[in-house]
Amino acid sequence: MPLVTTTQMFKKAYAGGYAVGAFNVNNMEIIQGITEAAAEEKAPLILQVSAGARKYAKHVYLMKLVEAAIADTGLDFAIHLDHGDSFEICKSCIDGGFTSVMIDGSKHSFRDNITLTKQVVEYAHSKSVVVEGELGKLAGIEDDVNVSDADAQFTNPSEVEEFVIKTGVDSLAIAIGTSHGAYKFKPGQKPQLRFDILEEITRRLPGFPIVLHGASSVIPEFVEAINKYGGSMPDAIGIPEEMLRQAAKSAVCKINIDSDLRLAMTASIRQYMMEHPDHFDPRQYLTPARDAIKAMVKRKISNVLGCAGKA
Ligand code: G3H
Ligand code: 13P
Ligand code: ZN
Repeated sequence: MPLVTTTQMFKKAYAGGYAVGAFNVNNMEIIQGITEAAAEEKAPLILQVSAGARKYAKHVYLMKLVEAAIADTGLDFAIHLDHGDSFEICKSCIDGGFTSVMIDGSKHSFRDNITLTKQVVEYAHSKSVVVEGELGKLAGIEDDVNVSDADAQFTNPSEVEEFVIKTGVDSLAIAIGTSHGAYKFKPGQKPQLRFDILEEITRRLPGFPIVLHGASSVIPEFVEAINKYGGSMPDAIGIPEEMLRQAAKSAVCKINIDSDLRLAMTASIRQYMMEHPDHFDPRQYLTPARDAIKAMVKRKISNVLGCAGKA
């Protein structure tokens, strides 16, 4: 099965000054929308699965859907565990055919994060699976765990060499001001990323692929549409596309996007339901929702990632 690891993808992305999009998947329509966009743009692609997604859809369904998408589009993808928080979940995904896993030990002390990450790397590498680690703590919500702004912590550049050498990780997720979910900055606050920290990390880890989580732009048209068609989202501010473009040209080789997928899908379904209050066939509202995801992913590929034609 032509699933690919991210090792080659990241080498090319680093040298080419672009990033690969890592999109979270939970069901068939999301997988189809994303993979059709990548295939039409000839873009490299990472599909990632959270613990919550595995619980919702089951590992085997997601794996089979990804296999179907490869057969349908003719493109090779990587399939990645997002935010694995234990050796056991990483092992289960490695044994279950994933090409890479993230072990997110960021809630632990530096020492414990190293111990856990190293354990995962040893097992993963013995099966030719690659590993993403994390240093620093992002704010926001993931899998119902809410990290407050006060508990968030930028990555400390002086720790990165020791972490990478002692664990053997293949890529490193860092915290430079992005956060999970739709509410990244407060109304009136100016979005900012610590590019100085990214530069210092790059200086200390030359050629090493960096990962940016929490990188949705929270595209304003979607929030407006949700509110226009019966929703009531408070002001939601994400990472400006311009900043992500800048990051994609640097050592950042993987950019994680989930919230923009959720917003695109929800805005489309809300609009459909308001405009067709008598319809009840799920195919009728899931078709435009899938198209909205596809259009959004194409926008990311051209406006943010710069990876069109690089597959
Ligand atoms: O970073 C987390 C992703 O958005 C996945 O979210 O854990 O609710 O599936 P989830
Ligand atoms: P967003 O919530 O900004 O889309 O981040 C997703 C993410 O980091 C998944 O790991
Ligand atoms: Zn994340």
